[in-house]
Amino acid sequence: MAPVKQLSDPVQIGSVRTRNRICIPPMVLYGHAGEDGMVTDAHVEHYRALAEGGAGLIIQEATCVSPEGRLRQDQLGIWAEDQVPGLKRIVEAVHGAGCPIFLQIHHGAVRDLSALSALEIESLRDAFIDGCLRACRAGYDGVELHGCHSYLLCQFLNRRTNRRRDPYADGLVLIKEIYDGVRAGTSPDFVIGIRLGAFEPGLSEGIGHAKALEAMGLQFLDISYGYAGEMDLTAPGDPKLSPPARGAAEIQKTVSIPVFAVEGIRTRADAEAVLAAGVEITDVGRSALVDPNWPEKVLRGEPAGACMGCRTCQWRIDPARCPGRILLRKKEEKQ
Ligand SMILES: Cc1cc2nc3c(=O)[nH]c(=O)nc-3n(C[C@H](O)[C@H](O)[C@H](O)COP(=O)(O)O)c2cc1C
Ligand code: SF4
Repeated sequence: MAPVKQLSDPVQIGSVRTRNRICIPPMVLYGHAGEDGMVTDAHVEHYRALAEGGAGLIIQEATCVSPEGRLRQDQLGIWAEDQVPGLKRIVEAVHGAGCPIFLQIHHGAVRDLSALSALEIESLRDAFIDGCLRACRAGYDGVELHGCHSYLLCQFLNRRTNRRRDPYADGLVLIKEIYDGVRAGTSPDFVIGIRLGAFEPGLSEGIGHAKALEAMGLQFLDISYGYAGEMDLTAPGDPKLSPPARGAAEIQKTVSIPVFAVEGIRTRADAEAVLAAGVEITDVGRSALVDPNWPEKVLRGEPAGACMGCRTCQWRIDPARCPGRILLRKKEEKQ
């Protein structure tokens, strides 16, 4: 029988050893960056708090490879050399608390994939490669290519949106070019992984992508929703787990690199159920926004703050209004 995975176990991802199996997935901090996409003190303190809270690994929020690819004007950027020193401050704060950190490399989307010329695709590819190389220079332990949630690489991967008639009709071709460019410019210690849709549009495509990306050399797969929230509610596995977490568990059966599962993991029991389903790492997103000390508390067997699953997450609007955090503060004041 396979040994039971403990939340406190480290996981080896390429050259990087996590502190435990809890990863804080990328979550954009709206309203923190200016239009120049530069890191502010608020970013540094946010990531320092998450690292001091005991996370095994942090994947920093979607950081854009070009000003045109931003979701909003106040998203972090990595399109210019003068953005590197600010990003380095985050890395130093997180490393100072003993936690490894990857950076999510992002481009929003294009209006019409079919209308892009080969030259335009090459320029997007080069922007991704340059962004990853800057992340390496800033000291990140690795990068996560953003390949799901309807964004650019996801548009390429999903056959419903990719109707091109050239080699890029296979979305993996662009990812391979990006991967090769980054690998050629970095040492083998620098980790390259991807956030991928489990259902793109179905689980069989998600599994196909995962196997091909492992064969390409990518070192981890952080599994989430695909294009426009593509998901298969009938995906096999424990019905208490979210569809992407079930998809992640199915994908982990077909690859040997670490797979991460996400969505709605709020308690130690939730996290253990995900590990029991077979994945190597559990992502804890909004519950760590509510309580940055979630990993440390849960690993000690103490109750931690948990996300209340609001219809619209206030962290997209005004974090001070997050009801989960307000409740936690009230509880802490009473103690
Ligand atoms: C405020 C906010 C910002 C997010 N930003 C990103 C992002 O930058 N990149 C990404 O891949 N997912 C992003 N997500 C999705 C989260 O990484 C995660 O998949 C989602 O919150 C579900 O996990 P949870 O239930 O543990 O929160 C974001 C989610 C929230 C709530
Ligand atoms: S605002 Fe609501 S959904 Fe967002 S982290 Fe707080 S409790 Fe969770």
